[in-house]
Amino acid sequence: MSDLPQEIPFSEPWIGQAEAREVLRVLRRRWLTSGPACAEFEAAVRERLSCAVAVATSSATSALEVSLAVLGIGPGDEVIVPAYTFTATASSVIHRGARPVLCDVEAETFNLDPAAVERRIAAEYTQQEGRLVSRRRSGTLKALMPVHFGGQPADMERLDALAREFGLAVVEDAAHALGAETRGRKVGQGENLTVFSFYSNKNLTTGEGGMVVTDRRELETPLRRWALHGLSKDNLTRTQTGTPLYDVLFPGLKANLPDLSAALGIAQMGRIEQILARRRRVAGWYDRLLQGVPGIVRPRVRADCRPTWHLYPVLLAEGGEARRDRIIATLKRAHIHPSVHFIPLPRFTFWQETFGDPPADYPVSENLYAREISLPIFPTLTMAQARQVVATLEEALARCR
Ligand SMILES: Cc1ncc(COP(=O)(O)O)c(C=O)c1O
Repeated sequence: MSDLPQEIPFSEPWIGQAEAREVLRVLRRRWLTSGPACAEFEAAVRERLSCAVAVATSSATSALEVSLAVLGIGPGDEVIVPAYTFTATASSVIHRGARPVLCDVEAETFNLDPAAVERRIAAEYTQQEGRLVSRRRSGTLKALMPVHFGGQPADMERLDALAREFGLAVVEDAAHALGAETRGRKVGQGENLTVFSFYSNKNLTTGEGGMVVTDRRELETPLRRWALHGLSKDNLTRTQTGTPLYDVLFPGLKANLPDLSAALGIAQMGRIEQILARRRRVAGWYDRLLQGVPGIVRPRVRADCRPTWHLYPVLLAEGGEARRDRIIATLKRAHIHPSVHFIPLPRFTFWQETFGDPPADYPVSENLYAREISLPIFPTLTMAQARQVVATLEEALARCR
């Protein structure tokens, strides 16, 4: 046994024999780029979600960009994005030459606040021939891009209703939310384009990877083409049909998922219920252990929601950013590695130089950011580790006044 203290990482993928077997199967088949393993992985996701279309991509970021491209969003268009998200949500909009427009989030769920969306639309846009045109910039609002923070579904009933009222498309950033449900409706079901991430710390991982799903069958071919150079035929189809020729229909992205990565996805889909159950178990331990710990606000789950527990975000009842950082430093000295989700977008250099909205315009995001600590959560985290995290957190709270 090593004398080194055991580190508790923020996240750790759960990789077993099934993953090794599937990767070997792909290596032995000698088809490494998108091909049969991708098709099998997509079919497994389609079956779980009972959705019509699933297109695997190289990341959620590329899947978001492909989705926006397929919806025809480009220069002169605007897309509403929460201020409290990872940069990828907004940068996918910028990559399309469109403009992300920020809205604040709900204090309880950290998710895009439908009331903030309504306020922003009322304050900034005018209806002109069925379009919402910005009074300040003359851009047209085309879509909403809610994020299911930490794997808790956003209030899609209200957001979908707003989208219908104003004729907006919806791209759901479900990077954290494969396996989440609201009232029995799985995230990914329906007509919206919904994007999952399979980055290494996500609920299901392919190392790097993503997927876009929808019930709109007519979008499947455009999605596949946008993800692969705008080619009329992919490599596997050309090989199988013995016709090496293809057409280029438009300069699409290079955003396909290799079979080598899809192999991990197949294995992980085979035990997705187990993965989610383990995460729920860890969240349940934290819930119990943190009950009655003064100074900590536990995550709140909306009635009828089943989150994936990609994150376990706690809030400090008191103190600001500096205290939060001292508490994190104390945990780190004790070999526990929490994280912070998220740094609000308006705080970043790029954002300030480009759009200039002051962080204070998004007070809920600012307040959450200053108080948030994401505790380690992953399927193989043990009860003893959860106890150690909470005990150390209690000590840190007492020490960092
Ligand atoms: C909310 C959100 N959207 C998008 C992404 C991007 O995912 P990917 O790394 O698969 O591109 C992330 C990554 O963590 C995320 O947290």
